[in-house]
Amino acid sequence: MTILGIESSCDETAAAVYSDRGLQSNVIASQTIHEQYGGVVPELASRAHQKTIWSTVTQALAEAGMTMDDIEGVAVTRGPGLMGALLVGISFAKGLAIAHDKPIMGINHIDAHLYANFIEGPDPVYPFIGLIVSGGHTQIVYVEEPFSHKILGQTRDDAAGEAFDKIGKIMGLPYPAGPVMDRLSREGDPSFHNFPRALLHEGLDFSFSGLKTSVLYYLQDMPEEKRKVFLEEHQPDLSASVTEAITDVLVIKLSRAIRQTGVKQVLVAGGVAANSVLRGKVETLCDEMELALKIPRLVYCTDNAAMIAVTGYLKTRKHQWDSVGFKPFASL
Ligand code: KG4
Ligand code: ZN
Repeated sequence: MTILGIESSCDETAAAVYSDRGLQSNVIASQTIHEQYGGVVPELASRAHQKTIWSTVTQALAEAGMTMDDIEGVAVTRGPGLMGALLVGISFAKGLAIAHDKPIMGINHIDAHLYANFIEGPDPVYPFIGLIVSGGHTQIVYVEEPFSHKILGQTRDDAAGEAFDKIGKIMGLPYPAGPVMDRLSREGDPSFHNFPRALLHEGLDFSFSGLKTSVLYYLQDMPEEKRKVFLEEHQPDLSASVTEAITDVLVIKLSRAIRQTGVKQVLVAGGVAANSVLRGKVETLCDEMELALKIPRLVYCTDNAAMIAVTGYLKTRKHQWDSVGFKPFASL
């Protein structure tokens, strides 16, 4: 089975080919236009997808050494994501599938983040707990068998990546702030300031909006001149302290979910899974609890089409092709 995967849910236009021999190509065109606005502008994202989707897909086929004749099915992100952005990828994928008489399948972007763990290395074993942490979603899921997910906990407000980005903006960092804060925090002191860890002692849900407000008030309380000097000096310390608060909550909830379910396999996925502190803490946790852990390589943590292609590939085992009339969904 050879699948062409297409991703356009947010600000990455991506295409990849996955076959029985593994990943054959993985092309990502990141949109830089949003940086100047401090966040993704939906209309600009749709236009940028339109401009690059043809060349991205062409390049993915070329790098795989294939033409559409070699492709046996098209998998495309169906949602969640920005409606206009999704429509570009889905319309393009449908056109391609119809023109070349190939079957098509819509893929849930959040599932795909999790199944990115099947791109490389030994396949994870079921049942497993998945911690999915991205710019749009923060969830803990229990997965008993392929594509049978039970949500055990999720965020009640901001996603973990959204918290990094919004707090980074307050601190004057460029968008997306997550990777910048990761870099800065390596030179900072995580105990510099003790920011709140919401819902730490109860259940498996998350809340990050209070942390954001707490950072805002912490900085607002300083006179403007002092704040400027303070930020210049302490951005690494603030980054490290915020990262410590976010990752503490993620790891404590993850360990609670593991204890409740008794699983032996843990998967972490999504853009925030690229965070070095989170990766370290989850590795320590799984070592201590003697659990098998899989986290994708960094390139497969943030949005990409390899994860869409591999999810399509795994789904074909259940023959879940869609009718070509399927619609995008913006939210879950
Ligand atoms: O999975 P993703 O690429 O897109 C969504 O589906 O949302 O995740 C993007 C999010 C952004 O919020 C970004 O700041 C965050 O992942 N991110 C990170 C790191 N790399 C990306 N957050 C913390 N540390 C990182 N190294
Ligand atoms: Zn994503």
